[in-house]
Amino acid sequence: MTAGSTQGEMAEDFPLAGRAGAFEQLLEILRSVRKGNVGTVVLSGPSGSGKTALLELFLDHCRTAARGVRVLSAMGDDWEAQFALAGYSQLMRTLPLRTAKDYDGGPALAPGPVASLTPDQVVNYASTLSTHLEGLQTHGSVVVAVDDVHKLDEASLRILTFVMRRLHEKRVLFLLTLNPVDAPRVPAGVLDFLTGHQVVRIPLEPLSPQQVQDVARSLFGLDLSATAAHGLVTHTGGIARSVVEPAP
Ligand SMILES: Nc1ncnc2c1ncn2[C@@H]1O[C@H](COP(=O)(O)OP(=O)(O)OP(=O)(O)O)[C@@H](O)[C@H]1O
Ligand SMILES: [Mg+2]
Repeated sequence: MTAGSTQGEMAEDFPLAGRAGAFEQLLEILRSVRKGNVGTVVLSGPSGSGKTALLELFLDHCRTAARGVRVLSAMGDDWEAQFALAGYSQLMRTLPLRTAKDYDGGPALAPGPVASLTPDQVVNYASTLSTHLEGLQTHGSVVVAVDDVHKLDEASLRILTFVMRRLHEKRVLFLLTLNPVDAPRVPAGVLDFLTGHQVVRIPLEPLSPQQVQDVARSLFGLDLSATAAHGLVTHTGGIARSVVEPAP
């Protein structure tokens, strides 16, 4: 048995094989955030390891089961990465609508592609985001989720990191996913922070043969032999996507 499947009852019915432990770790961090401690977590793993699946499951929990948790989310995208503020605008979209008159928190978003921001503009947007998060967390906890942070435009990455570095003793959880193979795409200063001591990293390890058996049973109603499960792990490297979506 693995650490993930020794978590007792939760592992039994947990929809993602082998990830009950990681989910429990996220719940634990959320409990700490609710007490007023900023949390910063990076879920890391190769493509197909289940970063998005785990992130979405946790966000579903935050939106439905957990009371008083507000979710702001963004998803990095290869094409959108060329637009400064693409990620930032996704996060802000989820905030209450503000009329132009009410919008006093910083410069309005540019309507089209922006090549890059000046350092002053970055600090300005960071201050806007920070002010909003501080305001929101007075009513409950806030989860700021960014899937595929390595695909975020550089301006948004800088803004987010600026805020993550400075926010303390607030009920805010920053939850990011990162594919380590793509880490070189992240600017060095940002990567230093994401790999530094302020950040909890949760690596999504390859699935074990036992976990592959669990997936086969729960998704396909198949009882795989230990030998077959071993073979599948060897063949797929224990990458969840290759197990659930076998090549044609
Ligand atoms: N532990 C798991 N048990 C069962 N299915 C899983 C598990 N983890 C992931 N999956 C499934 O595997 C597929 C790939 O997962 P997902 O998209 O979350 O990977 P990813 O790490 O986000 O990949 P990428 O880096 O390419 O975005 C999805 O269909 C997902 O539902
Ligand atoms: Mg993903």
